[in-house]
Amino acid sequence: MRILITGRRGQVGWELARALPSLGEVTALGHDGLDLADAGDIRAKISALRPDVIVNAAAYTAVGRAESEPDLAHAVNARAPGVLAEEAARCDALLVHYSTDYVFDGTKTSPYVEDDAPNPLSVYGRSKLAGERAVQASGCRHIILRTAWVYAARGKNFLLTILRLAAERPELRVVDDQFGAPTSAPSIAGATAAILDAVARGNGAQGVFHLAAAGRTTWHGFATLVVGGMPPPRPIVLAIPSSEYPTAARRPGNSCLDTTRLSATFGIRLRDWREEAQRVLTDLHATATLDHHER
Ligand SMILES: NC(=O)c1ccc[n+]([C@@H]2O[C@H](COP(=O)([O-])OP(=O)(O)OC[C@H]3O[C@@H](n4cnc5c(N)ncnc54)[C@H](OP(=O)(O)O)[C@@H]3O)[C@@H](O)[C@H]2O)c1
Repeated sequence: MRILITGRRGQVGWELARALPSLGEVTALGHDGLDLADAGDIRAKISALRPDVIVNAAAYTAVGRAESEPDLAHAVNARAPGVLAEEAARCDALLVHYSTDYVFDGTKTSPYVEDDAPNPLSVYGRSKLAGERAVQASGCRHIILRTAWVYAARGKNFLLTILRLAAERPELRVVDDQFGAPTSAPSIAGATAAILDAVARGNGAQGVFHLAAAGRTTWHGFATLVVGGMPPPRPIVLAIPSSEYPTAARRPGNSCLDTTRLSATFGIRLRDWREEAQRVLTDLHATATLDHHER
């Protein structure tokens, strides 16, 4: 199986480049190796590589900045997946594409299922929804994995931001009225590998699937867990409403995703978010200790 991964320096792309080589011959391209804003570049790279599977982990993910760069967000998140999908159809490849909880407006009072009507609140959410629709319209074999609140031991994410701010400030004020499940990039890559393994064994399921850690919390709950694992002195973590933390883009109040379809189709269920976050924090603290001893 020849596998092409895009976005290799992103949180999910980085973990995919570690998780997928057991399944086939992997080519992982970063922004410098494939510019998704350039349709010609996408077509040329795919016809040269002729992959059996394309895993698109590249995206324009700066949710706030997208409000002032809608054209670029649309090019990368909507047009590029459409071109990838057309090329996948041409070489009969399977396209695995990631999307987001931000396609929903968050007004539902229970976890979102795949068939709930999307209604994005932001440029980013609208661009990702347009990307989903372009993939679906292309007729290529595809699996769209909507995930949420992604973090990892590297990259730009909430967990690393909290660790940095907690070392600088005596008090953190964190939003406590948006609900979701922090989902680690390693767990997303592991689930993707398990899906591709199932596909290789003949599972022909396609469509949209929700992929998120079990359980739910708020950003305040996530920050509290992160800070709780730090050595003292620890900052106080204050809960605030979203109205006290204005941002360029509106975010849904409910980002919880129901993952029943994924477990029923592929037998995959991610661990509780707390367990996974502790694992990533333990790895981070172990690496920091190792660095300290080696200095
Ligand atoms: N992060 C989240 O909380 C979250 C939540 C829900 C869903 N998702 C989705 O999950 C997927 C993976 O997200 P992630 O968190 O791993 O994102 P990430 O860490 O921001 O990585 C995205 C990667 O895409 C690359 N990229 C951006 N523009 C590009 C272009 N024009 N051509 C080629 N590469 C480009 C970036 O490279 P440069 O940095 O060099 O530009 C970056 O390495 C995305 O589809 C995202 O929408 C993410």
